[in-house]
Amino acid sequence: MSTLQFFKDIVEDEAMKPLLSNVAEIVCYGIGSLASSKKCQEQLSLIVALRHHFKIDSPMYIFDPVMSENDVKLVAQLGFTMITNNEEAKRKVAMKDGPASEAGRGITIFYMPFCSRKLYDNLLWANWSLDALQRCFIMGNSFNRYNEFHLPPQESYRPYSYTSKAYGHYQEQMFPTNYPTNLYTFHELSFHWFTPSHLQSLDSNYWLSCPEPPSITDDPEVVSASSQTQ
Ligand SMILES: C[S@@+](CC[C@H](N)C(=O)[O-])C[C@H]1O[C@@H](n2cnc3c(N)ncnc32)[C@H](O)[C@@H]1O
Repeated sequence: MSTLQFFKDIVEDEAMKPLLSNVAEIVCYGIGSLASSKKCQEQLSLIVALRHHFKIDSPMYIFDPVMSENDVKLVAQLGFTMITNNEEAKRKVAMKDGPASEAGRGITIFYMPFCSRKLYDNLLWANWSLDALQRCFIMGNSFNRYNEFHLPPQESYRPYSYTSKAYGHYQEQMFPTNYPTNLYTFHELSFHWFTPSHLQSLDSNYWLSCPEPPSITDDPEVVSASSQTQ
């Protein structure tokens, strides 16, 4: 991975460097099963290579309900800690070192390649505050595509569509498009982050209405927390 132009284009990008040089935590959701998919292996290798390149020694967590025992052993060898319960991506960033400043905020990388939109909604809900959002760095499906090109969220889910509520307030940069396979491993994925100065400029009302999304029970791509406890 580290020899690919695709990788160099990411790590040499001037927007990425300051963000990826100050990482408090890495959380991976929805990578899939490494034992059964080359695409999942390649996706995982990107985060491992980024960790190595930026000398990130922060904790790394991972969860996907389809992971097998062999997958669990493999990621443990790579330094990941398994998340043991299904959070449906409702996880708050690591709040390291008190209030975040523009330059010195320790970000949490949430790596979620091709997850369901509702998992991104849940993640944003869990971090719906000025101090938490500015520490979120989300690698996953393009939020701009959701908001500009794709179908709107389900009618019943509109109050919980935090990918919609956040529109206009995040920075987004597409992954490079030169990954050398035709497996659609990284196509149309994006980096998303929030700048402290922009979030500070928002009216205080922006943060007020933030109902918790209900457990996801009607999405064929999501294993709900309730189904796993049965
Ligand atoms: C569309 S697949 C993407 C898999 C892989 N990243 C890829 O690109 O082929 C969505 C993934 O989300 C995982 N998933 C479903 N429910 C989840 C949950 N509650 N938390 C984390 N991952 C979940 C699925 O098991 C599946 O591996």
